[in-house]
Amino acid sequence: MKYDFDKIVDRNNTNALKRDGWREYIFGDPEGKLKFNFSDEEFIHMWVADMEFECADVIIDALKKRVDHGIFGYTTIYNDDYPNAFAAWCKKRYDWEFDKKELCYSPGIIPALYELIGDICEEDDKVLFQTPSYGFFKHASTYNGREMVFNKMKFNEGKWEMDFDDLAEKCSDPKVKVLVWCNPHNPTGKVWTEDELKKVAEIVEKNDIYIISDEIHCDMRRSGVGHIPMGKIMPDYPKLVTSMSASKCFNMAGLQLSNIIIRDPELRQKFKDGDKLVGFLNPLSISAMQAAYEGGEEWLNQMNDYVEENFKYVKKFIDENLPEIKFEIPESTYLAWVNFGAALPEGTDVNDFFANQAGVLIEGGDALFVDNAEGFVRLNLAMPKSLIVTAMDRMLDAINKAGGRK
Ligand SMILES: Cc1ncc(COP(=O)(O)O)c(C=O)c1O
Repeated sequence: MKYDFDKIVDRNNTNALKRDGWREYIFGDPEGKLKFNFSDEEFIHMWVADMEFECADVIIDALKKRVDHGIFGYTTIYNDDYPNAFAAWCKKRYDWEFDKKELCYSPGIIPALYELIGDICEEDDKVLFQTPSYGFFKHASTYNGREMVFNKMKFNEGKWEMDFDDLAEKCSDPKVKVLVWCNPHNPTGKVWTEDELKKVAEIVEKNDIYIISDEIHCDMRRSGVGHIPMGKIMPDYPKLVTSMSASKCFNMAGLQLSNIIIRDPELRQKFKDGDKLVGFLNPLSISAMQAAYEGGEEWLNQMNDYVEENFKYVKKFIDENLPEIKFEIPESTYLAWVNFGAALPEGTDVNDFFANQAGVLIEGGDALFVDNAEGFVRLNLAMPKSLIVTAMDRMLDAINKAGGRK
């Protein structure tokens, strides 16, 4: 491998959410009043979805070049360099083309979702999504005061499946105006098959509702698994919004630039009019994201291979030591969604348990995800393997001491 993913990078004093924001995010304790059995130096951070890997050299070089220019005045995207780089990436990686006039920008897919739900839904309209779900789908709905409707996924022998009958029923509620769709799905890591995507598209089109397809994890994948944008399945559907970014899979969430492709011209205009940043973007972000699309593929492929080996290690470890958990490697994301509840006394608060008994910071359960998540823990595997080995050993030790499921 050209890149060293084993390297441990010290993130102290970088204002990193993962390193310094966990007390507030996981435990609601911004002032640090709670006491933990482990010190900050001892914790292993397997929670929020950013990576412990340094960015690709091409990205760092592009940033340095832009910094060397020395002027960072008001900026947005005027020429075609960035849209062309992103469009070429979509063509090459997913054999998909979009109409460039539909491409809008946002600092993040979640800020865009906050805006879009408000733009699409009237006061008593409802927002639908699959559960378990990433927490911000809920926060974006509640921020706008919109009711949520959950289409619960089913867990069967380590695999997550869609309940299509339930989806069809919920979509037929005339108050449901938008499906917030997640592919690859966070937290389960599921990649929906072409057949599944077609069934979802059929239900959405029949009920004439909006679909916001959050595809932020689309460049993370296990070998042999591809990504099918919803835009390819629904080539002409006007109520589709597609959200993508190089931020997640190239580890630059802090640079904050994402692509929001909005087909409906009225919604597109509303979205632009509602932009509280009045269209301006960070010049460093544009350079970094463009560099990722133009030259980051080799890094991305090697990073995916490295993470796949981490998944294999975790799967083997669980099968050998905790077979009752029934864990299967997901097709995408760098997040393992593990039913540790099956190995712990009923009602265990998994976030507190693993922080205090193992010194491992994770996110799990209905407190941090939305519905249908009890007992499940999300492990971030985009980190040096040596840290994962230590974390898994400590977690097993803590589970054994707790005496297993009672
Ligand atoms: C499904 C999904 N959407 C969006 C985000 C965050 O997007 P952004 O940082 O662009 O707001 C995440 C982060 O983990 C995610 O998992």
